[in-house]
Amino acid sequence: MLVEETVFGSETYGETLALRKRILRDPLGLEWTAEEEGWESRERHFAMKGDNGVVACVIIRSLGNGAVKLRQMVVEPEQQGRGIGRRLLGGVEKILIREEVDRIELNARDAAVGFYERLGFRKEGDEFMEVTIPHWKMVKTL
Ligand SMILES: CC(C)(COP(=O)(O)OP(=O)(O)OC[C@H]1O[C@@H](n2cnc3c(N)ncnc32)[C@H](O)[C@@H]1OP(=O)(O)O)[C@@H](O)C(=O)NCCC(=O)NCCS
Repeated sequence: MLVEETVFGSETYGETLALRKRILRDPLGLEWTAEEEGWESRERHFAMKGDNGVVACVIIRSLGNGAVKLRQMVVEPEQQGRGIGRRLLGGVEKILIREEVDRIELNARDAAVGFYERLGFRKEGDEFMEVTIPHWKMVKTL
């Protein structure tokens, strides 16, 4: 499975949207807003695909000055714990390093903090609430 960048509005993008909706949004009762769709057309979308389609995805937003924000990282539940998240993030980091990005920021759900720590991110500041659940700002220097 390779990391691929996918185009906003493409079939693969549609699959990433369905995966994110099912795993990140529906359990919290969150709706997809037109405002978000506006952002997503200006962000970059990365995915990993297995035989039956997308198994993992993540969004990267440029913050300028060599920094990006990572959002909406998901691995298909039955494929979690097999190193796919590590491979997706590693592949995306390689691409970002080539583009001279040197800082990744993200807001991690409390349950995912351990995953990002294993991949070299560190917490910055205090816990805060976002989309009704506790989050931590995390940062990694590339
Ligand atoms: C968080 C998530 C993306 C991790 O992906 P994954 O493919 O299961 O993770 P990997 O198998 O690549 O794990 C990489 C490392 O992190 C560790 N790890 C994975 N999930 C972890 C967690 N929730 N807490 C602590 N450590 C974790 C693994 O043990 C592994 O460690 P090692 O390689 O050093 O032995 C995935 O579990 C997921 O999609 N969760 C639901 C959605 C979510 O919460 N997304 C994050 C929103 S901020």
